[in-house]
Amino acid sequence: MEKLIVTGGTSLRGTINVSGSKNASLPILAATLLTDEQCVIRRVPDVSDTNYMLQILSKLGAEVERASGNVIVAAKDVSHETPYDIVRKMRASVCMMGPLVARLGKADVSLPGGCVIGDRPIDLHLRALQELGAVIDVKGGDVVIRVPDGLKGAEINLRGKFGPTVLGTANLMMAATLADGLTIIEGAAAEPEVVDLADFLGKMGAKIQGAGTRRIEIEGVESLHGVEHTIIPDRIEAGTFLVAAAIAAEERMTVNRIQPSHLTAVIDTLKACGHAVEIEGQKAHVTRGAQPRGTKIRTGPFPEFPTDMQAQMTALFIVSEGISTVTDTIFPERFMHVPELQRMGARIERQGNMAIVEGPSELTGAPVMASDLRASATLVLAALRAKGETVINRLYHIDRGYEHIDEKLMGVGAQMVRARA
Ligand code: UD1
Repeated sequence: MEKLIVTGGTSLRGTINVSGSKNASLPILAATLLTDEQCVIRRVPDVSDTNYMLQILSKLGAEVERASGNVIVAAKDVSHETPYDIVRKMRASVCMMGPLVARLGKADVSLPGGCVIGDRPIDLHLRALQELGAVIDVKGGDVVIRVPDGLKGAEINLRGKFGPTVLGTANLMMAATLADGLTIIEGAAAEPEVVDLADFLGKMGAKIQGAGTRRIEIEGVESLHGVEHTIIPDRIEAGTFLVAAAIAAEERMTVNRIQPSHLTAVIDTLKACGHAVEIEGQKAHVTRGAQPRGTKIRTGPFPEFPTDMQAQMTALFIVSEGISTVTDTIFPERFMHVPELQRMGARIERQGNMAIVEGPSELTGAPVMASDLRASATLVLAALRAKGETVINRLYHIDRGYEHIDEKLMGVGAQMVRARA
């Protein structure tokens, strides 16, 4: 196990580059199972979640090659039985279900394990597949899916009590590409990662309309073919670096290779807090405000403020003037970072699905524990401003989704070192 030792107080400056999106890569890698032809996918970030996904594809029988961010997958003969030991490590492996039932008419996938960010059911995924004609049996921790009479298009409302489901939309879209007839998804997720998947599937020959809106129509086709595709920039990594600049850059800092339209809610929040963000093509130049103040954020489906950015924004509010509030309507339990930030001197109170932050606080380095992916990034951000050394344990959480985060931040002036725990 590794830990990260961050020495706070250095000023960030220069340019930091954003990698390809982890959350777009995962369903797109799963979608390569929809064809027996070769797919070439560029800018797949080298993080453990994409590694797990490639291991699953490989165990299922696909030929997989990876070099310099490019992944080549050829899934000629594929098994329907996903490997439990890898699948249990990553919730996103749930998106193997859609492509496997579409291609083979059957899939055995382990139920995802518990998750520290709260209850994460897959009822909507299963209901959607049932409405396409799948028969589902959940036994011994496995989801056993069979399609006795072929998948048939249907009109399906996917909206759950916490709003649209991102991977549920991805799963259903993938399953419907090879179903018989028209599938209409109402209450679809409109996240950029869903649009990237729809673009990928469209290049494979799928007929999809409306991705990026709440209603997606998929006209099933006989077969799909191989493609080349470049993954969109990671909007959450980009947002994390924008916040890093607002926390710790004393001069202008640039976040490069972004898609600005994917970051509107985050950029608007930074501006509301008194920071300047100037967009120039694929770059965002951030100048920290002289007297940064806090604000209120409330997470919601895209284009609202992303739940995957609320913890990082909390780190910024801690060092900003005034009372800020952070409400998470999508994952109401997602506040594992709060006690760790309190250990560093933050004044935060949790009330149900809301954290109330009183700023500004002087942060002090402390030993802290990473609990999940975005919470760990938050601890790194807070550590950049803390006095002295912060030791972040359980670093594997951050390596699930941030490509070389320590090297990237050191490239703009942060001081940190990775060590064995
Ligand atoms: C994806 C992202 C994750 C992000 C989340 C919300 C990936 C790999 N992960 O996760 O980083 O935080 O979107 O933007 O892309 N729900 C149900 N039943 C279901 C499915 C979901 O009730 O069958 C609930 C969830 O518990 C949650 C809400 O719906 O409250 C949204 O979750 P969902 O969009 O499905 O999250 P993921 O797709 O798993």
